[in-house]
Amino acid sequence: MEIAPKPANESQRLAALRRYQLLDTPPSRGFDELVGLASSMFDVPTVLVSLVEDDRQWFKAKCGLDACETSRDVAFCSHTILESGVMVVEDATTDHRFFDNPLVVGEPFIRFYAGAPLITPGGFNIGTLCLIAYEPRGLSKRDRELLTLLASQVVDQAELHLHAHDAEKYYEQVIRHSGMLEQEVAERTRDVVKTREQVIQCLAKAAEYRDDDTGKHVRRVSAYVGLIARQLGLHDEQCQAMAVAAKLHDIGKIGIPDNVLLKPGLLTVHEYGLMKGHVDLGSAILANMADNDQSLITRHCEIGSGILRDGDYPLLRLAEEIARTHHEKFDGSGYPQGLAGEAIPLSGRITAVADVFDALSSDRPYKAALPVEHCLAILDEGRGGHFDPAVLDAFHACLEGILDARVRIEQGITEPYCAA
Ligand SMILES: [Fe+2]
Ligand SMILES: [Fe+2]
Repeated sequence: MEIAPKPANESQRLAALRRYQLLDTPPSRGFDELVGLASSMFDVPTVLVSLVEDDRQWFKAKCGLDACETSRDVAFCSHTILESGVMVVEDATTDHRFFDNPLVVGEPFIRFYAGAPLITPGGFNIGTLCLIAYEPRGLSKRDRELLTLLASQVVDQAELHLHAHDAEKYYEQVIRHSGMLEQEVAERTRDVVKTREQVIQCLAKAAEYRDDDTGKHVRRVSAYVGLIARQLGLHDEQCQAMAVAAKLHDIGKIGIPDNVLLKPGLLTVHEYGLMKGHVDLGSAILANMADNDQSLITRHCEIGSGILRDGDYPLLRLAEEIARTHHEKFDGSGYPQGLAGEAIPLSGRITAVADVFDALSSDRPYKAALPVEHCLAILDEGRGGHFDPAVLDAFHACLEGILDARVRIEQGITEPYCAA
């Protein structure tokens, strides 16, 4: 038996074969049909599409044979890939290369073999399309041409397979890239949202320092607003936004001079008015102020609105709404616009209750906190006058949560509705 030498371009030939990614793949119809066609065209029992690998030949398609591969040493096809055209062995028993080949002297007792090399567009013989019969026979010139033609059809199939595989890979790549892009966009969006919220937090801090030196009033109002909003049935996102925006309710105080804003006498009068249960708390404080101071204090809503007005980010628009309307009163006697009822945005009506409750129930340098029952009585005095009854009801309904929040903020624990 003569073992076929390896071609001079063996390593490139193997690379070309492997590029098709056909080895050890399941049967495919295109190849099977060509094999069936060859079997009936040439009237042979066995037809193979053989891919000649390093040390074996593996059959991508076959008919009339059970084996799926043989060793390269015994393969007739190992000789065919050395040729540029069809190799015919009319009777293997009389051919010096094959007469003692195990496939000739034993199963399946090959006698006739005709193989056409599978020549890739790059010129590499990666395997064969071969016909096998178990009786000696010949192959006409015409049949050799037909076999060559069919072999080129097999190569076309391999090319199709390759391109389909490439297309699939390309598609997967596109999907992967678009997934990565989506992730990138989501990350950037999160960054932008986070940055915006951080800017709001910085602004809120400025408001905190202007209002009281601990900053806790702003944090408490924020938490109360979130809780009341939730009690009123608003979605979690709206509650969160309202709580953050409420931190800026008094941002306009940035524009009020210290000698007016921090005048203890004014605040005392203000608290006094609250304690007496005056419905019109605004006038109680304002009546005792110099005209100039009055207009300055009442202007903090407009100043706040002016600071926030230019933003078109929804959170800033909400903050502007709250800054502008948190001193409006349900009966229309508030400031700065004298809005009444539902003409006052819900955010302003909620903040009004939260703001007044906190002013009453907190210690200030010039006064002690009023007992909660007293604060509630004062708020109830303002029912329908200063405060929206529905908001007041919601406030009462979530009072326990509000008092808990107050304790936690005092202990320095971050509230869910005033988180950074
Ligand atoms: Fe205010
Ligand atoms: Fe306030």
